[in-house]
Amino acid sequence: MRQELPHPVFGQPAEARASAPGRVNLLGEHTDYNEGFVLPIAIPQRTHVAMRRAAGRRCRLHAQALGLTVSFSLDVRPAEHFATYVYGCLAEARAAGAPVPPLDIDVRSEVPMGVGLSSSAALEVATLRCLRELLGLALDDLQLARLAQRAEVEHAGVRCGLLDQMAASLADTRCALLLDTRTLARRFVPLPAGSAIAVLDSGVPRTLAASAYNQRRAECEQAAQALGVGFLRDVPDALAVEALPEPLRRRARHVVTENDRVLQAVDCAAARDFGTLMNASHASLRDDFEVSTPELDRLVGLLQQHPDVFGARLTGAGFGGACVALCVEEAVQEVAQGTLAAYARTGGHGRMLVPAPA
Ligand code: GLA
Repeated sequence: MRQELPHPVFGQPAEARASAPGRVNLLGEHTDYNEGFVLPIAIPQRTHVAMRRAAGRRCRLHAQALGLTVSFSLDVRPAEHFATYVYGCLAEARAAGAPVPPLDIDVRSEVPMGVGLSSSAALEVATLRCLRELLGLALDDLQLARLAQRAEVEHAGVRCGLLDQMAASLADTRCALLLDTRTLARRFVPLPAGSAIAVLDSGVPRTLAASAYNQRRAECEQAAQALGVGFLRDVPDALAVEALPEPLRRRARHVVTENDRVLQAVDCAAARDFGTLMNASHASLRDDFEVSTPELDRLVGLLQQHPDVFGARLTGAGFGGACVALCVEEAVQEVAQGTLAAYARTGGHGRMLVPAPA
């Protein structure tokens, strides 16, 4: 067994450790809260959490990436935004009956923050996994993902769907995870033969993401209500949305066509066809759902023109952040570097996130 060293901040060894990965969504954007389909894959970068029972009555949370230690009571939500994710997990676990004691918690994250790769879900799932380990909780990976989602909705104020937490809890780096967010039926789907993914950050931080996200979600709910269905998942085809007033017509059209693209993608073995669906997804997110930015459009455009790219799109909620490309497997490094150089010539400041820079 590994000898635990005293923690540099807390002075005592950890009693439990766990981690969870970030994710990149290949197709199925803004479909999860419409009870539709998503297709994420885990990225190599992970968030690591270590815990021990605290000596006092308060929790202490140390985030290495932020160089910050925050102290909070289990009964009062902390003011620091990043701490609300951890607090939310502890609060939801308590609400579900877990006897959560005051804890010293250490967080070390490799998942880039604020670019659409779900650093918050990685933190939530790693926190709950660590708590499960420490207290021997009888929680399966699905229940754990649901608790993590509740932590985000109830405590961080984002009315997110299940995509990110399910991906952090269940996805793999080698195969994509096809998930039906209504039934929670899921299966692993290999990437098309001879392809690999690249993820590039546009360098533009996501702005107003939480409020604009909640607004899009409300528009989808209005569109579903106007169409007389519970969720946009139930709209049979894109023609059915044509009579809606704008912007509901375009919002609903995105969701209906995007669900269709996920299902087509998992049926098509060829990388070229998969890539064409990714390109169509980007156009739909840009024109119908209106969550792209000029910089993302430029970076995605450069990727789409590259001869070794099958397709590219923005990924995550949008409003800034990263994009994902399906590339010829052997050329993925070159694609990423060449595209970033071309982006820099247009004044952009991007960076490569996957493959993870050495
Ligand atoms: C964010 C949310 C997810 C999902 C995506 C958009 O990542 O947390 O639930 O809605 O945006 O697909």
